[in-house]
Amino acid sequence: MEGLTLIHVRPNMTIKRQQMRSARGMHQRQSPEAKPENRIVLDATNMFDAPGPGTIRQADVEALIPDIVKAHQMLKNDKGDIYDQGIPMTGWRDLPIKMTESHLSEIISLAGELGRKIDAYVSLGIGGSYLGIEATFKALTHTCFNQLTREERGGAPEIYFLGQNMDPDFLRDTLDMLRGKRIGINVISKSGTTTETAVAFRIMRRLMEANWGTEADQFILATTDKSHGALRKMAQKRGYRTFVVPDDIGGRFSVLSDVGLVGLAMANINIREFAAGFRNMREIVWENDFWRNPALVHAALRHAAWRAGKKIEVVATNAVSLYGAARWMEQLFPESEGHEGHGMWVSPSLYSEKLHANGQMVQEGERNIMETFLLLQSHDNQMPIPKAHDNLDGLDFLAEREMNMNGLNRMVIDGPAYAHHHGGVPNMTIEIPCRNAFNLGQFYYMMETSVAVSGYLLGHNPFNQPGVEAYKRAMFALIEKPGYEAATQDIKSRLKQKERIRI
Ligand code: PA5
Repeated sequence: MEGLTLIHVRPNMTIKRQQMRSARGMHQRQSPEAKPENRIVLDATNMFDAPGPGTIRQADVEALIPDIVKAHQMLKNDKGDIYDQGIPMTGWRDLPIKMTESHLSEIISLAGELGRKIDAYVSLGIGGSYLGIEATFKALTHTCFNQLTREERGGAPEIYFLGQNMDPDFLRDTLDMLRGKRIGINVISKSGTTTETAVAFRIMRRLMEANWGTEADQFILATTDKSHGALRKMAQKRGYRTFVVPDDIGGRFSVLSDVGLVGLAMANINIREFAAGFRNMREIVWENDFWRNPALVHAALRHAAWRAGKKIEVVATNAVSLYGAARWMEQLFPESEGHEGHGMWVSPSLYSEKLHANGQMVQEGERNIMETFLLLQSHDNQMPIPKAHDNLDGLDFLAEREMNMNGLNRMVIDGPAYAHHHGGVPNMTIEIPCRNAFNLGQFYYMMETSVAVSGYLLGHNPFNQPGVEAYKRAMFALIEKPGYEAATQDIKSRLKQKERIRI
């Protein structure tokens, strides 16, 4: 049998998009203006009047408006509980208007220069130093990016992520993908001490040095704090090319900083367009009028739902490409809201896959759930549904009505939105018109603003993560890291006293 030929299948438009950008050069000269077809819409219709316990009325949201408007003003003026180690953590707020053209150009040319010399680029980081980069990469590139030819990738090297877990099999498997390739790595860690990232970096550095000696240093980038962290010191000593995580921007708010930009430019993603999307949404959510400001309405809807007993937010998308964005929300919201007994659990989901699993729970389980849909309105590709000669599945009518997969894929959101609302699950839809960097930028800025306002409403600082630090400390104590002797002793004696129940 001969190999498959894609008969009657049109060229892949995601690949075309990458190649077009490449044809314009890695310089990605144009920065698009806001166009009506790039307008992100928040559809709140189904948030209201869902039957059963925890119904939310429009009046509940209207009652929140004075507090929301006050919170918004405080955010704009750097007021309130927003400090981490004495620094107001709102640097992300004005980053879109502070980002200079020359800085973007510098990153694009570095990515072009390094990208041409390597076959694969490995981004090392966890949490905010990872999720936004991967989410944007997945949203805007081919699902099997690394299996495409370099030309199909628009000239970009292969892209890998490490340091986001401590799984030796995962790391080892990734090394197999890197065998025989010229590689470049970017170690991203604001603190410089996060164990997962540091361990992956050690392994990669040793491997690179064993292969290329000191020449390896030219292929190692470090993205870390401006002056004092451990990674900064090492980078200075070794002469690595460095990028900065600003002091006043926390990891989960950092995708528009160097944290995200370097890797995205490396993947041939238009970072000018990305920054323009942030800028555009900043203008939109700077608006004081509540009902004209999607970030404020978004924050109010979620807060009203939380008060009404909704403790789980299913964030479901109909696009494989946007599943990473749902995962990014899983970090942004819980890490910012999960303080002092507050917050909703965010469950990222891909529909319709998950409808055949937790869809039952959403429809008929405990009524403590709300849903947010990330609806991709227009996919890159059109997939028509063919007629079958036997019509055994009875679906010929779809072909006869020229219904394609695209039309059906909208129904995997519209159907659940209707059914789940009737089942007592309030839901809202964030409509993302199409896959481009501008829209991703807009989406991120809207969510960042919403979660910041949410912090004010809940009455805690949304910009730190003492709970995450607690696990890091416990892990350091358990691995007996020098400097943690007292904690090691304490944790060990507590564990000793605990009666184990092992069946
Ligand atoms: O949002 C955050 O601040 C965290 O998720 C951090 O990004 C994460 O813990 C990684 O930290 P670091 O960049 O210091 O390695």
